[in-house]
Amino acid sequence: MTKMSMIAAVDAGWAIGYKNDVLIRIPEDRVFFRKHTVGNIIIVGRRTLESFPGGLPLKDRTNIVITSNKDYYVPQAVVVHSITEAAIKAIQISEEMSADIYVAGGEQIYRQMEQYCTDAYITYIYHKFEHSDAFFPELTRQRGWVLKEYSDLKCYEDIIYEYRHYVKETRYEIS
Ligand SMILES: NC(=O)c1ccc[n+]([C@@H]2O[C@H](COP(=O)([O-])OP(=O)(O)OC[C@H]3O[C@@H](n4cnc5c(N)ncnc54)[C@H](OP(=O)(O)O)[C@@H]3O)[C@@H](O)[C@H]2O)c1
Repeated sequence: MTKMSMIAAVDAGWAIGYKNDVLIRIPEDRVFFRKHTVGNIIIVGRRTLESFPGGLPLKDRTNIVITSNKDYYVPQAVVVHSITEAAIKAIQISEEMSADIYVAGGEQIYRQMEQYCTDAYITYIYHKFEHSDAFFPELTRQRGWVLKEYSDLKCYEDIIYEYRHYVKETRYEIS
């Protein structure tokens, strides 16, 4: 069965970015992100893809990028032009490769793909950054999400954070 999850690092106000960059780079969180996504499929918006090093897809995983631009080309990525196309393509590839699907941002893509996701892996940072302009949809019970488990508190420089695993209460299956 195909599993589609969201993965993100959020601050205490559920902010995820500023000026098309992330708010902070926590080395251990990058390892956590790699552990989940390497060998699997990530779905990203065009702006997030362009925020990656060199504006290029992340290595060792299938990158699906969503854009409305029909002429958009980026090497080593699958380019799609709607949310539905992204979901269908990701499921097809996931079945061919037995791979999991991770929705990896940014805000526009999380908000539109939340409906397809059953899990969310959130690095929750106990700090509110002064500047932010991109936000994750806050995962509350009202939206159907429950916090299933969380890690011990961790520390990077003076920043405290934890890993959270949320699941959707009313699961529906993607086939
Ligand atoms: N903290 C984290 O974990 C994390 C993770 C990822 C990203 N981020 C941050 O999130 C921010 C970027 O988020 P964002 O919301 O500005 O951009 P985004 O979601 O990465 O990309 C938006 C772009 O995706 C395309 N798009 C969106 N919906 C579409 C649809 N229905 N059909 C076709 N194309 C569609 C459009 O591309 P075109 O304009 O080309 O049509 C749109 O401009 C950055 O600050 C980034 O660093 C943070």
